[in-house]
Amino acid sequence: MILVTGATGNIGRELTRELDARRAPLRLLVRDRARAAGLPDRAERAVGDLGEPSTLTPAFDGVDKLFLLTQGIGTDHTAAAIGAAQAAGVSHIVHLSSLHVTLDPAPAMARWHHEREEIVRASGIPATLLRPGGFMTNALDWLPTILEGNHVLDPVGPGRYAPIDPADIAAVAALVLTGAGHEGKEYVLTGGETFTVTEQVRIISETIGRDIEVREVTTPDEAVRFRFPNGAPQALADAITEGFHLMRADTVGYRTDTVERLLGRKPRTFADWCARNADAFRRHGTT
Ligand SMILES: NC(=O)c1ccc[n+]([C@@H]2O[C@H](COP(=O)([O-])OP(=O)(O)OC[C@H]3O[C@@H](n4cnc5c(N)ncnc54)[C@H](OP(=O)(O)O)[C@@H]3O)[C@@H](O)[C@H]2O)c1
Repeated sequence: MILVTGATGNIGRELTRELDARRAPLRLLVRDRARAAGLPDRAERAVGDLGEPSTLTPAFDGVDKLFLLTQGIGTDHTAAAIGAAQAAGVSHIVHLSSLHVTLDPAPAMARWHHEREEIVRASGIPATLLRPGGFMTNALDWLPTILEGNHVLDPVGPGRYAPIDPADIAAVAALVLTGAGHEGKEYVLTGGETFTVTEQVRIISETIGRDIEVREVTTPDEAVRFRFPNGAPQALADAITEGFHLMRADTVGYRTDTVERLLGRKPRTFADWCARNADAFRRHGTT
């Protein structure tokens, strides 16, 4: 039995479909059953919360493989999941980390991921670490300014990165969860093309047939709203601001061939992602 955490998120939804297509025995950890509507019916639902360890025992019962994704900051949720995994006798963990753990010095965001990796390693359970760079779905964070003011706030200027489609992360996770020989491996996952924010916005504009303006951010608060339109706790806001400094300095603009090596095909392109998500960027009644 494979247990998928984060099943209702960007990666989890795609992973659930990938594993369903492989007919893998599958259980989804969800906080709210309604959020899992639309996910494959064949997958069991276990209602639980990583912030409430007592809810995890039944969810982990009979599980031998775990896809572990924790959101936000801190390590409590990882520790709770690992405790439940040890108690259940899980034999393999595929842990979602971040490319940022490869940076030296490590930014705050990477330190949380690094500490989570350490908890996974210390568990003694064989694990595979997936370390993706920035997601293509982060572009959805620009929707409020695009839909309200037809512009995107740009905190990174000339900095480039190689956004990855979460569907590719899910495809790698499914391969690792259902294949052999991935224990102890660390996979740094990126898309196949590097972009500035301006270049990404140009592709969105071309996809929907409407020019979208790019405005350089002028305050740290504006920079945070680039990723968290509704704001973020101070520690997360500080980490995000630090991350943008690194991106602006072009420290994360590299690509790996890991997705292609593992999947035997090129990573999905940002133009393809935009085509699949074009409706989200269109204003009602207009392009
Ligand atoms: N975005 C990036 O560029 C980037 C880059 C590298 C690494 N990462 C890492 O990728 C991960 C986010 O992946 P994602 O975009 O697929 O996630 P996401 O779309 O933000 O979804 C988060 C998932 O976690 C679930 N969740 C949140 N709190 C929970 C809790 N207390 N107990 C159980 N489940 C909980 C959510 O369930 P609900 O439906 O109940 O909310 C949802 O399924 C984070 O670890 C992030 O650091 C992101």
